[in-house]
Amino acid sequence: MPFPTTRRPIGRMVPWIITLPNDLYPFGRVVAFRNHGGSAEQWIKEGKNVSEWPRLSRREFHSTLDNEQRRSYPVMTNSTKRIGLVGCGVIGGRIAERAIERGFAKIDFVCDMDLEKAREAAPGAEVFPNLSDVAARQVDLVVEAANADVMREIAIDVLGERDFMPFTMTALADDDFREAVRVQCRKAGTRLFIPHGGVLGLDGIYDGRTVIEELTIKTTKHPRNLGLDESTSGVIYDGPTRGACARFPRNVNIHAAYALMGLGFDRTHSTVISDPETKQMRHDIVVKGPGLEWNFMISSTPVGEVTGNYTPESAASTVGRVIGADYDIVMA
Ligand SMILES: NC(=O)c1ccc[n+]([C@@H]2O[C@H](COP(=O)([O-])OP(=O)(O)OC[C@H]3O[C@@H](n4cnc5c(N)ncnc54)[C@H](O)[C@@H]3O)[C@@H](O)[C@H]2O)c1
Repeated sequence: MPFPTTRRPIGRMVPWIITLPNDLYPFGRVVAFRNHGGSAEQWIKEGKNVSEWPRLSRREFHSTLDNEQRRSYPVMTNSTKRIGLVGCGVIGGRIAERAIERGFAKIDFVCDMDLEKAREAAPGAEVFPNLSDVAARQVDLVVEAANADVMREIAIDVLGERDFMPFTMTALADDDFREAVRVQCRKAGTRLFIPHGGVLGLDGIYDGRTVIEELTIKTTKHPRNLGLDESTSGVIYDGPTRGACARFPRNVNIHAAYALMGLGFDRTHSTVISDPETKQMRHDIVVKGPGLEWNFMISSTPVGEVTGNYTPESAASTVGRVIGADYDIVMA
Protein backbone atom coordinates (compact mmCIF):
# COMPACT_ATOMS: atom_id res chain seq x y z
CA MET A 1 0.00 0.00 0.00
CA PRO A 2 1.51 3.37 -0.93
CA PHE A 3 2.11 5.75 1.94
CA PRO A 4 1.01 9.33 1.43
CA THR A 5 3.51 12.15 1.51
CA THR A 6 2.61 14.64 4.21
CA ARG A 7 2.68 18.27 3.15
CA ARG A 8 2.57 21.19 5.50
CA PRO A 9 1.75 24.86 5.04
CA ILE A 10 4.75 26.80 6.31
CA GLY A 11 3.71 30.38 6.43
CA ARG A 12 3.27 33.48 4.41
CA MET A 13 6.24 33.33 2.14
CA VAL A 14 6.37 29.82 0.80
CA PRO A 15 3.05 28.05 0.64
CA TRP A 16 4.05 24.44 1.26
CA ILE A 17 6.83 22.35 2.62
CA ILE A 18 7.22 18.63 2.71
CA THR A 19 7.43 17.58 6.33
CA LEU A 20 11.04 17.52 7.38
CA PRO A 21 12.67 14.32 8.50
CA ASN A 22 12.88 14.25 12.22
CA ASP A 23 13.64 10.98 13.93
CA LEU A 24 14.43 8.54 11.19
CA TYR A 25 14.73 4.81 11.49
CA PRO A 26 17.68 2.69 10.41
CA PHE A 27 17.57 1.97 6.70
CA GLY A 28 17.90 -1.78 7.20
CA ARG A 29 14.72 -1.71 9.24
CA VAL A 30 12.99 0.39 6.64
CA VAL A 31 13.89 -2.05 3.92
CA ALA A 32 12.84 -4.99 6.09
CA PHE A 33 9.59 -3.28 6.90
CA ARG A 34 8.88 -2.56 3.25
CA ASN A 35 9.91 -6.05 2.08
CA HIS A 36 7.58 -7.71 4.55
CA GLY A 37 4.66 -5.65 3.36
CA GLY A 38 3.72 -4.27 6.79
CA SER A 39 1.89 -1.03 7.37
CA ALA A 40 3.26 1.91 9.33
CA GLU A 41 0.45 1.51 11.84
CA GLN A 42 1.31 -2.14 12.34
CA TRP A 43 4.99 -1.28 12.74
CA ILE A 44 4.22 1.24 15.47
CA LYS A 45 1.69 -1.04 17.21
CA GLU A 46 4.32 -3.76 17.37
CA GLY A 47 6.33 -1.49 19.61
CA LYS A 48 8.93 -0.14 17.23
CA ASN A 49 9.60 3.05 19.09
CA VAL A 50 10.27 5.94 16.68
CA SER A 51 12.19 7.87 19.29
CA GLU A 52 14.92 5.21 19.22
CA TRP A 53 15.57 5.72 15.53
CA PRO A 54 18.56 7.79 14.53
CA ARG A 55 18.02 11.34 13.34
CA LEU A 56 19.06 12.36 9.83
CA SER A 57 19.88 15.77 8.45
CA ARG A 58 17.86 16.90 5.45
CA ARG A 59 20.84 16.15 3.23
CA GLU A 60 21.15 12.61 4.61
CA PHE A 61 17.41 12.15 4.17
CA HIS A 62 17.64 13.00 0.48
CA SER A 63 20.91 11.22 -0.29
CA THR A 64 20.35 7.96 1.61
CA LEU A 65 16.69 7.03 1.23
CA ASP A 66 14.96 6.00 -1.95
CA ASN A 67 11.67 7.61 -2.97
CA GLU A 68 9.54 4.90 -1.42
CA GLN A 69 11.35 5.18 1.92
CA ARG A 70 10.98 8.97 1.88
CA ARG A 71 7.25 8.64 1.27
CA SER A 72 6.94 6.22 4.17
CA TYR A 73 8.85 8.33 6.63
CA PRO A 74 6.35 11.07 7.57
CA VAL A 75 3.62 8.52 8.29
CA MET A 76 5.80 6.72 10.77
CA THR A 77 7.10 9.62 12.80
CA ASN A 78 5.22 11.47 15.46
CA SER A 79 8.13 12.77 17.47
CA THR A 80 8.42 16.32 18.71
CA LYS A 81 10.20 18.79 16.47
CA ARG A 82 13.42 20.29 17.75
CA ILE A 83 14.67 23.81 17.34
CA GLY A 84 17.94 25.51 18.14
CA LEU A 85 18.07 29.16 19.17
CA VAL A 86 20.99 31.43 18.41
CA GLY A 87 20.44 34.55 20.48
CA CYS A 88 18.11 34.46 23.39
CA GLY A 89 17.21 38.07 24.09
CA VAL A 90 13.82 39.70 23.56
CA ILE A 91 12.87 37.67 20.46
CA GLY A 92 14.71 34.40 21.17
CA GLY A 93 13.55 34.40 24.79
CA ARG A 94 9.89 34.69 23.75
CA ILE A 95 10.27 31.92 21.17
CA ALA A 96 11.65 29.63 23.89
CA GLU A 97 8.87 30.61 26.30
CA ARG A 98 6.09 29.93 23.79
CA ALA A 99 7.67 26.73 22.45
CA ILE A 100 7.71 25.32 25.97
CA GLU A 101 4.25 26.67 26.87
CA ARG A 102 2.51 25.56 23.65
CA GLY A 103 4.67 22.50 23.07
CA PHE A 104 5.20 23.14 19.37
CA ALA A 105 8.90 22.25 19.65
CA LYS A 106 11.55 21.07 22.02
CA ILE A 107 14.39 23.54 22.50
CA ASP A 108 17.44 21.43 21.74
CA PHE A 109 20.01 24.16 22.35
CA VAL A 110 20.47 27.83 23.03
CA CYS A 111 23.63 29.50 21.78
CA ASP A 112 24.16 32.84 23.51
CA MET A 113 27.09 34.70 25.02
CA ASP A 114 24.99 35.16 28.13
CA LEU A 115 24.85 31.59 29.41
CA GLU A 116 22.81 32.40 32.48
CA LYS A 117 20.09 34.05 30.42
CA ALA A 118 20.12 31.10 28.02
CA ARG A 119 19.74 28.58 30.87
CA GLU A 120 16.84 30.52 32.32
CA ALA A 121 15.08 30.78 28.96
CA ALA A 122 15.16 27.10 28.14
CA PRO A 123 15.71 24.81 31.13
CA GLY A 124 16.99 21.44 30.00
CA ALA A 125 18.33 22.71 26.69
CA GLU A 126 22.01 22.46 25.95
CA VAL A 127 23.54 25.89 26.37
CA PHE A 128 26.80 27.07 24.80
CA PRO A 129 28.40 30.32 23.63
CA ASN A 130 30.28 29.26 20.48
CA LEU A 131 28.67 29.87 17.11
CA SER A 132 30.93 27.22 15.57
CA ASP A 133 29.02 24.52 17.51
CA VAL A 134 25.62 25.44 16.02
CA ALA A 135 25.60 23.75 12.60
CA ALA A 136 26.39 20.27 13.92
CA ARG A 137 23.34 20.12 16.21
CA GLN A 138 20.65 17.73 14.99
CA VAL A 139 17.56 19.93 14.90
CA ASP A 140 14.70 20.59 12.50
CA LEU A 141 15.17 24.35 12.46
CA VAL A 142 17.83 26.80 13.62
CA VAL A 143 16.52 30.25 14.55
CA GLU A 144 18.79 33.29 14.67
CA ALA A 145 17.75 36.20 16.90
CA ALA A 146 21.10 37.84 17.68
CA ASN A 147 22.51 40.32 15.16
CA ALA A 148 23.68 40.71 11.55
CA ASP A 149 27.25 39.52 12.23
CA VAL A 150 25.97 36.32 13.82
CA MET A 151 23.53 35.74 10.97
CA ARG A 152 26.34 36.15 8.46
CA GLU A 153 28.69 33.90 10.41
CA ILE A 154 26.39 30.89 10.78
CA ALA A 155 24.03 30.98 7.77
CA ILE A 156 26.05 29.01 5.23
CA ASP A 157 27.15 26.27 7.64
CA VAL A 158 23.67 25.85 9.09
CA LEU A 159 22.03 25.73 5.66
CA GLY A 160 24.49 23.04 4.63
CA GLU A 161 22.69 20.77 7.09
CA ARG A 162 19.25 22.09 8.00
CA ASP A 163 16.62 24.79 7.65
CA PHE A 164 17.28 28.24 9.02
CA MET A 165 15.13 31.18 10.06
CA PRO A 166 16.99 34.43 10.72
CA PHE A 167 15.33 37.45 12.30
CA THR A 168 18.22 39.70 11.22
CA MET A 169 17.64 40.00 7.50
CA THR A 170 19.70 43.14 6.86
CA ALA A 171 22.72 40.88 6.23
CA LEU A 172 20.97 39.68 3.05
CA ALA A 173 21.32 43.13 1.44
CA ASP A 174 24.80 41.93 0.44
CA ASP A 175 24.24 40.38 -3.00
CA ASP A 176 27.24 38.03 -2.81
CA PHE A 177 26.18 36.71 0.58
CA ARG A 178 22.55 36.28 -0.54
CA GLU A 179 23.68 34.39 -3.63
CA ALA A 180 25.93 32.14 -1.51
CA VAL A 181 22.92 31.41 0.72
CA ARG A 182 20.80 30.51 -2.33
CA VAL A 183 23.48 28.22 -3.74
CA GLN A 184 23.88 26.48 -0.39
CA CYS A 185 20.11 25.91 -0.05
CA ARG A 186 19.90 24.36 -3.51
CA LYS A 187 22.95 22.19 -2.91
CA ALA A 188 21.85 20.92 0.49
CA GLY A 189 18.08 20.84 -0.09
CA THR A 190 17.47 23.25 2.78
CA ARG A 191 15.40 26.42 3.15
CA LEU A 192 15.97 29.88 4.48
CA PHE A 193 12.69 31.11 5.92
CA ILE A 194 12.01 34.85 5.99
CA PRO A 195 9.66 35.51 8.91
CA HIS A 196 7.39 38.52 8.75
CA GLY A 197 8.62 39.60 12.19
CA GLY A 198 7.38 43.12 12.89
CA VAL A 199 6.07 43.53 9.34
CA LEU A 200 2.47 43.31 8.21
CA GLY A 201 1.33 42.56 4.67
CA LEU A 202 4.48 40.72 3.63
CA ASP A 203 2.37 37.88 2.25
CA GLY A 204 0.45 40.23 -0.06
CA ILE A 205 3.63 41.91 -1.24
CA TYR A 206 5.34 38.60 -1.98
CA ASP A 207 2.35 37.20 -3.84
CA GLY A 208 1.91 40.47 -5.75
CA ARG A 209 5.57 41.25 -6.42
CA THR A 210 5.18 40.85 -10.17
CA VAL A 211 2.62 43.67 -10.34
CA ILE A 212 3.97 46.03 -7.68
CA GLU A 213 5.95 48.98 -9.03
CA GLU A 214 6.74 51.05 -5.97
CA LEU A 215 7.38 50.27 -2.31
CA THR A 216 8.42 52.90 0.22
CA ILE A 217 8.93 52.55 3.98
CA LYS A 218 9.31 55.45 6.37
CA THR A 219 10.48 54.49 9.86
CA THR A 220 10.35 56.87 12.81
CA LYS A 221 12.10 55.86 16.04
CA HIS A 222 13.59 57.46 19.11
CA PRO A 223 17.34 58.03 18.56
CA ARG A 224 18.14 55.49 21.31
CA ASN A 225 16.32 52.84 19.26
CA LEU A 226 18.51 53.75 16.29
CA GLY A 227 21.76 53.65 18.23
CA LEU A 228 22.13 57.45 17.89
CA ASP A 229 22.84 60.31 20.23
CA GLU A 230 19.70 61.10 22.28
CA SER A 231 19.33 64.56 20.75
CA THR A 232 19.52 63.46 17.07
CA SER A 233 16.46 64.73 15.24
CA GLY A 234 15.19 64.63 11.64
CA VAL A 235 15.74 62.54 8.52
CA ILE A 236 18.94 60.57 8.88
CA TYR A 237 18.57 58.33 5.83
CA ASP A 238 16.62 58.67 2.62
CA GLY A 239 17.46 56.36 -0.28
CA PRO A 240 17.49 52.74 -1.46
CA THR A 241 16.92 50.12 1.24
CA ARG A 242 20.34 48.64 0.50
CA GLY A 243 22.02 51.70 2.05
CA ALA A 244 19.70 51.71 5.08
CA CYS A 245 20.62 48.06 5.80
CA ALA A 246 24.34 48.87 5.63
CA ARG A 247 23.97 51.87 7.95
CA PHE A 248 21.48 50.42 10.45
CA PRO A 249 21.92 46.62 10.40
CA ARG A 250 20.08 46.24 13.75
CA ASN A 251 17.29 48.70 13.14
CA VAL A 252 15.77 48.24 9.68
CA ASN A 253 15.07 44.52 9.48
CA ILE A 254 11.53 45.42 8.50
CA HIS A 255 12.88 47.26 5.45
CA ALA A 256 15.06 44.26 4.56
CA ALA A 257 12.07 41.91 4.78
CA TYR A 258 10.02 44.07 2.38
CA ALA A 259 12.95 44.38 -0.04
CA LEU A 260 13.63 40.64 0.01
CA MET A 261 10.04 39.67 -0.61
CA GLY A 262 9.13 42.53 -2.95
CA LEU A 263 11.21 44.64 -5.30
CA GLY A 264 14.75 44.04 -4.07
CA PHE A 265 17.16 46.28 -2.18
CA ASP A 266 17.63 48.91 -4.90
CA ARG A 267 14.01 49.49 -5.94
CA THR A 268 12.66 49.61 -2.37
CA HIS A 269 12.89 53.10 -0.88
CA SER A 270 13.75 53.68 2.79
CA THR A 271 13.47 56.76 4.96
CA VAL A 272 14.69 56.70 8.56
CA ILE A 273 13.70 59.50 10.92
CA SER A 274 15.06 60.10 14.41
CA ASP A 275 12.53 61.71 16.75
CA PRO A 276 13.60 62.34 20.37
CA GLU A 277 9.94 63.00 21.28
CA THR A 278 8.47 59.69 20.15
CA LYS A 279 7.74 56.78 22.46
CA GLN A 280 6.79 54.47 19.58
CA MET A 281 8.48 52.64 16.74
CA ARG A 282 6.44 53.61 13.71
CA HIS A 283 6.57 52.40 10.11
CA ASP A 284 4.54 53.96 7.26
CA ILE A 285 4.43 51.73 4.21
CA VAL A 286 3.12 52.69 0.77
CA VAL A 287 2.82 50.14 -2.02
CA LYS A 288 1.75 51.07 -5.55
CA GLY A 289 1.18 49.29 -8.83
CA PRO A 290 -1.17 49.52 -11.81
CA GLY A 291 -4.68 49.61 -10.35
CA LEU A 292 -3.54 49.16 -6.74
CA GLU A 293 -2.42 51.27 -3.83
CA TRP A 294 -1.92 50.09 -0.26
CA ASN A 295 -1.08 52.28 2.71
CA PHE A 296 -0.43 50.84 6.11
CA MET A 297 1.02 52.07 9.34
CA ILE A 298 2.57 49.85 11.99
CA SER A 299 3.30 51.29 15.40
CA SER A 300 4.50 49.53 18.53
CA THR A 301 6.06 50.28 21.89
CA PRO A 302 9.73 49.29 22.22
CA VAL A 303 10.32 46.29 24.49
CA GLY A 304 14.04 46.13 23.85
CA GLU A 305 16.66 48.32 22.28
CA VAL A 306 15.64 47.45 18.73
CA THR A 307 12.43 45.44 18.99
CA GLY A 308 8.77 46.49 19.25
CA ASN A 309 6.28 44.62 21.41
CA TYR A 310 4.51 42.80 18.56
CA THR A 311 7.62 41.16 17.05
CA PRO A 312 8.49 38.61 19.78
CA GLU A 313 4.95 37.24 19.76
CA SER A 314 4.80 37.11 15.97
CA ALA A 315 8.24 35.45 15.93
CA ALA A 316 7.13 32.67 18.27
CA SER A 317 3.95 32.01 16.29
CA THR A 318 5.85 31.94 12.99
CA VAL A 319 8.33 29.38 14.30
CA GLY A 320 5.41 27.28 15.57
CA ARG A 321 3.66 27.50 12.20
CA VAL A 322 6.73 26.63 10.17
CA ILE A 323 7.52 23.47 12.05
CA GLY A 324 3.97 22.70 13.16
CA ALA A 325 3.15 19.03 13.24
CA ASP A 326 -0.62 19.05 13.63
CA TYR A 327 -3.29 18.72 10.99
CA ASP A 328 -5.51 21.78 11.48
CA ILE A 329 -6.72 24.94 9.79
CA VAL A 330 -3.51 26.88 9.17
CA MET A 331 -2.50 30.10 7.49
CA ALA A 332 -0.94 29.64 4.05
N1 LIG B 1 12.68 40.72 11.62
C1 LIG B 1 12.16 41.66 12.39
O1 LIG B 1 11.04 42.13 12.16
C2 LIG B 1 12.95 42.14 13.56
C3 LIG B 1 12.36 43.01 14.48
C4 LIG B 1 13.09 43.39 15.57
C5 LIG B 1 14.41 42.97 15.74
N2 LIG B 1 14.97 42.17 14.81
C6 LIG B 1 16.36 41.70 14.93
O2 LIG B 1 16.38 40.47 15.64
C7 LIG B 1 17.61 40.35 16.35
C8 LIG B 1 17.31 40.02 17.82
O3 LIG B 1 16.57 41.07 18.40
P1 LIG B 1 16.33 41.12 19.98
O4 LIG B 1 15.51 42.31 20.27
O5 LIG B 1 15.91 39.79 20.46
O6 LIG B 1 17.85 41.41 20.47
P2 LIG B 1 18.45 41.26 21.92
O7 LIG B 1 19.59 42.21 22.01
O8 LIG B 1 17.39 41.33 22.96
O9 LIG B 1 19.02 39.75 21.93
C9 LIG B 1 20.15 39.38 21.18
C10 LIG B 1 20.81 38.19 21.89
O10 LIG B 1 21.85 37.71 21.05
C11 LIG B 1 22.98 37.41 21.88
N3 LIG B 1 24.20 37.52 21.07
C12 LIG B 1 24.69 38.62 20.48
N4 LIG B 1 25.84 38.34 19.84
C13 LIG B 1 26.06 37.01 20.04
C14 LIG B 1 27.10 36.13 19.63
N5 LIG B 1 28.14 36.54 18.90
N6 LIG B 1 27.03 34.85 20.01
C15 LIG B 1 26.01 34.40 20.78
N7 LIG B 1 24.98 35.21 21.19
C16 LIG B 1 25.02 36.50 20.82
C17 LIG B 1 22.94 38.43 23.00
O11 LIG B 1 23.65 38.00 24.16
C18 LIG B 1 21.44 38.56 23.23
O12 LIG B 1 20.98 37.67 24.24
C19 LIG B 1 18.34 41.68 16.16
O13 LIG B 1 19.32 41.56 15.14
C20 LIG B 1 17.26 42.63 15.72
O14 LIG B 1 17.76 43.66 14.90
C21 LIG B 1 14.26 41.73 13.75
